[in-house]
Amino acid sequence: MKKHIADFVIAEKKTIGSSYFTLLLKSPEALPEILPGQFVEVQVPDNKEVFLRRPISIHDVDYAANTMTLLVQVVGKGTRTLSQLAEGRTLNLVYPLGNGFSIDGQKPLLVGGGAGIAPLLYTAKKYSEKGIRPAILLGGRTAELIPVKEEFRPYGEVFFATEDGSLGEKGLVTQHTAFGKSYDSILTCGPTPMMKAVARHALKNGIRCQVSLENTMACGVGACLCCVTKTDHGHRCVCKDGPVFNVENMKEWAN
Ligand SMILES: Cc1cc2nc3c(=O)[nH]c(=O)nc-3n(C[C@H](O)[C@H](O)[C@H](O)COP(=O)(O)OP(=O)(O)OC[C@H]3O[C@@H](n4cnc5c(N)ncnc54)[C@H](O)[C@@H]3O)c2cc1C
Ligand code: FES
Repeated sequence: MKKHIADFVIAEKKTIGSSYFTLLLKSPEALPEILPGQFVEVQVPDNKEVFLRRPISIHDVDYAANTMTLLVQVVGKGTRTLSQLAEGRTLNLVYPLGNGFSIDGQKPLLVGGGAGIAPLLYTAKKYSEKGIRPAILLGGRTAELIPVKEEFRPYGEVFFATEDGSLGEKGLVTQHTAFGKSYDSILTCGPTPMMKAVARHALKNGIRCQVSLENTMACGVGACLCCVTKTDHGHRCVCKDGPVFNVENMKEWAN
């Protein structure tokens, strides 16, 4: 897919809880086709210490309005600087990057944890466009750390798992009663231990499963090799060959 480099205008910024925010970004031109699970590389302005672009998943797309939404958790210098930008400012993006999720299966389960929930909204939307309502299982340590909740309801049946029991069932997503039900496809993004547990369950039960990795990146286009991951077929760049991998090819990674 052709990559674009463009200046987007921050049309709206919303703060969510103490660590998350969304940016609604307006494109100057018609958006190209964007696959669920693809990401952008954002140039961080106003901070000379942040030299490299930061990879952020595409949370939502509105082709009619020419907008994309990013959902970001503040974890360091780059994301903090992004959180401080005012509406009306311009952000330079390289996009759409990576391979994205395949929208497969008739009875899918989407599993998201923390900031890994970000790519799943547009993914759920793509399933619903095919007339399929996925089960959507979202987890976090507390309710506050599950940044978006109601936004998923139009597209599927939504379940929550929190470690402190403040929302949904108490425990990890893999302990949730919805997790053990029967599915023909699982798509997941979130902390690595969570994705490995989901992958092991899928491999054990013969369920097709896609994991979206969030390795640290620099170039974002397969040139610097700083994002490589081990697969059963050798090392692969998460930015170019991923971020989505089929767990059938990641058995060693999952163990
Ligand atoms: C394909 C992809 C998609 C992503 N999508 C999103 C998203 O939609 N929303 C979102 O909030 N974040 C997302 N991330 C993670 C995001 O890129 C990092 O949190 C961000 O680059 C950190 O930049 P920083 O300057 O704020 O932190 P830094 O100052 O660079 O680092 C601060 C802390 O964050 C950790 N960190 C840095 N990069 C990552 C990373 N990739 N994953 C986990 N921890 C990291 C560092 O180890 C360090 O502890 C994504 C990452 C990838 C690779
Ligand atoms: S970030 Fe440079 S090769 Fe992936």
